[in-house]
Amino acid sequence: MPLPILVTGGAGYIGSHTCVALIEAGHVPLVLDNLCNSSVESLARVQRITGVRPLWVEGDIRDAALLQRVLAEHRPQAVIHFAGLKAVGESVREPLAYYDNNVGGTTILLQAMQEAGLRNLIFSSSATVYGNPASVPISEDFPRSATNPYGRSKLMIEDILGDLVGADPRWRVARLRYFNPVGAHASGLIGEDPRGIPNNLMPYITQVAVGRLPELQVFGGDWPTPDGTGVRDFIHVMDLAEGHVAALAHLLGEPGMFTVNLGTGQGCSVLQMVQAFERNSGRRVPYRIVPRRAGDIAACWADASAAHRLLHWQARRDLDTICADAWRWQQANPQGLR
Ligand code: NAD
Ligand code: UD1
Repeated sequence: MPLPILVTGGAGYIGSHTCVALIEAGHVPLVLDNLCNSSVESLARVQRITGVRPLWVEGDIRDAALLQRVLAEHRPQAVIHFAGLKAVGESVREPLAYYDNNVGGTTILLQAMQEAGLRNLIFSSSATVYGNPASVPISEDFPRSATNPYGRSKLMIEDILGDLVGADPRWRVARLRYFNPVGAHASGLIGEDPRGIPNNLMPYITQVAVGRLPELQVFGGDWPTPDGTGVRDFIHVMDLAEGHVAALAHLLGEPGMFTVNLGTGQGCSVLQMVQAFERNSGRRVPYRIVPRRAGDIAACWADASAAHRLLHWQARRDLDTICADAWRWQQANPQGLR
C-alpha cells in the first residue's frame, strides 16, 4: 500500500471531496479532523462513492503529541492542510479563535512535520488575500492585503510558509488560493453542510430552493458590474479537489514553493447564479435586493493560467453542472449530514 496523504480537515467540505479525488488517483487519504465544523458521516459517504474508507483520526491539529504519534505511525508522504476556521464575520467577533486555530494550529503542524522529517505540504489559502483588487482578472503577483482576521490569518500562514522554505530548501510547499468553491459531488452524497444560516451565496440559494429559508437577500444592486450585483469566480468543488491532486503530483516532483490561483478564470454575477440555479433545479429562488454587505468587493475572478501552465490542470465543470450538483446534494440531504 502506498504511504498515505495526511488530510487535515478532511471531513469538511473541500476536504471530503479531495479525499474522493485522491482515492480516484490511487492515493490513500488519512484524515485528521476535530469535527468542529463537520461530521464523520462525510467519510462514510466518501466510502460509498469510492469503495474505500479513508484512514481516520479524530483530533485537533493543535495537539502536538497526537500529531507526533500520527506522523510516526502512518509515515505520510505529504500533508494537505485544510483544517481551520473560515467564517469572516465570526473572525471579526472572535479574532483569537482564528489566530489560535489557523495560525497557531498551522505552526504546531509544521513543527510536528519538521520533527518527523516530513516536509511536503499543500496549504489552503484563499482569494481573500488579494483584498480589494485593483483590477480583474487577478494574477498571483497582485499585492496582498486583509480586511478581517480570517484573511489576515491566511496572509500570516502564507508568510510563515515562505520563511520556512527560505530557511530550509528541503521543504516543498504549495500555497493554493481558492476562489469561490461551490457545488457538490455528482452523486449527491457529499456537499457543503454549513452550520446555522449560511453566510455564502450558494448554500443560501439551495436552502431557499428547498424551503428552509424564505428568500435570498442580494447584497447590493449598485455595484459597478454589468447587472449591478457582485461578480465572483465560482469553481466546482470537484474541480478544486482535482487541482489538489495535480498540485500534489507537482510538489512531489519538484522541491521549492509555488503559489497558484485555483479558479475558473470566469466571473459570474449573483443574479446570473440565481438564474442558472433556477434553470437547473426547476425551482424559483425569490430574492430581494438589499444594501451592500460590509467588507464585500465588486468583482473578483482569477487569472487561472499559472495553474494550467504549472499543474496542467484547469476547471472543467460549468455553471449548469455546479447548480445541478448543488441541488442534487441539497435535495437528498435537506438538513445536511449533522
Ligand atoms: P470546512 O469547515 O468544511 O472544513 C474545515 C475542516 O477543518 C472541518 O471539518 C473542521 O471540523 C476542521 N477543523 C477546523 N479546525 C480544526 C482543528 N483545529 N483541528 C482539526 N480539524 C479542524 O471548510 P472548507 O470550506 O472545507 O475549507 C477548507 C479550507 O479551505 C479552510 O482552511 C478554508 O479557510 C479554506 N478555504 C475555503 C474556502 C471556501 O469558500 N470554502 C475558500 C478559500 C479557502
Ligand atoms: C466569502 C468571504 C471570503 C472567502 C469566500 C470563499 C466574506 C466577506 N468573504 O467571499 O473571505 O474567501 O467567501 O469562501 O464573507 N451574496 C448575496 N447574498 C447572500 C450571500 C452572498 O448577495 O446571502 C453575494 C455577496 O455579496 C457576493 C457573492 O454573493 O457578491 C458571493 O458571496 P459569498 O459566497 O459570501 O463569497 P465572497 O463574499 O466572495
